Amino acid sequence: MAKTIQAVRGMNDILPGESAAWQFLEATLRRVISSYGYREIRLPLLEKTELFKRSIGEVTDIVEKEMYTFDDRNGDSLTLRPEGTAGCVRACMEHGLLHNQIQRLWYAGPMFRHERPQKGRYRQFHQIGIEAFGMEGPDIDAEVIFMTAQFWRALGLDDAVLQLNSLGTPGARAGYRDALVAYLRGREAELDDDSRRRLDSNPLRILDSKNPDMQPVIAGAPQLSEYLDADSRAHFDELCGLLDAAGIAYEVNPRLVRGLDYYSKTVFEWVTDKLGAQGTICAGGRYDGLVEYLGGRGTPAVGFALGLERLIALLEACGIEPQGANPHLYLVLSGDMAVRQGMVFADELRNAVSGLRVQCNCGGGSFKSQFKRADRSGAELALVIGDEEAGRDEVTIKPLRAGGEQETVARQAIVQRLGELLALEQI
Ligand code: HAM
Repeated sequence: MAKTIQAVRGMNDILPGESAAWQFLEATLRRVISSYGYREIRLPLLEKTELFKRSIGEVTDIVEKEMYTFDDRNGDSLTLRPEGTAGCVRACMEHGLLHNQIQRLWYAGPMFRHERPQKGRYRQFHQIGIEAFGMEGPDIDAEVIFMTAQFWRALGLDDAVLQLNSLGTPGARAGYRDALVAYLRGREAELDDDSRRRLDSNPLRILDSKNPDMQPVIAGAPQLSEYLDADSRAHFDELCGLLDAAGIAYEVNPRLVRGLDYYSKTVFEWVTDKLGAQGTICAGGRYDGLVEYLGGRGTPAVGFALGLERLIALLEACGIEPQGANPHLYLVLSGDMAVRQGMVFADELRNAVSGLRVQCNCGGGSFKSQFKRADRSGAELALVIGDEEAGRDEVTIKPLRAGGEQETVARQAIVQRLGELLALEQI
């Protein structure tokens, strides 16, 4: 027999048993996002490779090692998007959405990075991202962080910690960069190969190294905060004041530099210790220089992205169950007349009660086998129509989960009775 074909490593199927959690997560996040007045933008999965090289930065892990890049049939180099910000900026510039305008946008979908797969780190993963354009003050930084705090509240999560830092303006960072390089040169013998290579090209990224041997060198390095320009410092202080006023706790982490080059001023990450090594569930910051760098008119911008696989894992780790996964009702239908009436009756119920989930037995079967299917469906109640009920316009209700007696009611009375049994106002 031929060997069966399996999925690409690091690219996961989301199976029916998991999709309810995804739908609950996505619906909750979308509700919060729209409560802030953000509008959706839908973007292609493929972009020209140049876009990512220029925006994320040539000397980053993503661009150096992780992109899915190929030549298409015309010989153009294309890349499966490793993140959403670059494409969003490209689209906004291309369609004239930025000039003299404010935009509050969101997007969702799969991203692709050829990383080493492990728990919480995949080659195809999903983000929901937010990008706000045209506002330079710390109030909009605060708004997007408030939104993240609302996500956790709406999802029932309370253990993530907000880490915050300011990377300053490019000018301030250049001064810091010189001081950092001078320090690192003094300890060059202790640097690993990656860091030595980055010493000239991207020394700030050395601070982000996960190599344990590098940690003593990193701990002794000068801190960016000592080199911040006055404008960035005031921006950061005001942001902290806004978060304080809202009661949103944060830790200032001077080592937070982020793995993408486009950031300036505010950067932040929400981190949990419940997921092992891949504990960052949300990350972002300000990128005031990117639009201009890509050839547009200078436009301040700030945003973040959530890692949905990690949020799903966190919901599970916290025992948070998705609502609304299983059918409320499973119709057990025995006999030709019952099948004919039952299919129509099921639609009448769906029309009468908005949000009611009804699964109808199809494919016949004995009462016993139909009840087995009813049980496996996860439904609260079985509604039974056999020959007897069919002849009398009745239906028998059998509770499948909560216990309680079986009862037979007239079909005209069913909606009211279901309301009592299922707490239908919650549907
Ligand atoms: P990022 O930090 O590269 O930022 O990714 C954001 C989030 O996506 C991470 O915190 C993590 O939860 C999730 N993530 C990243 N890589 C993987 C992976 N291989 N497997 C599973 N989850 C992953 C960005 O992408 C920026 N575009 C965010 C942003 C928007 N900044 C400004 N606007």
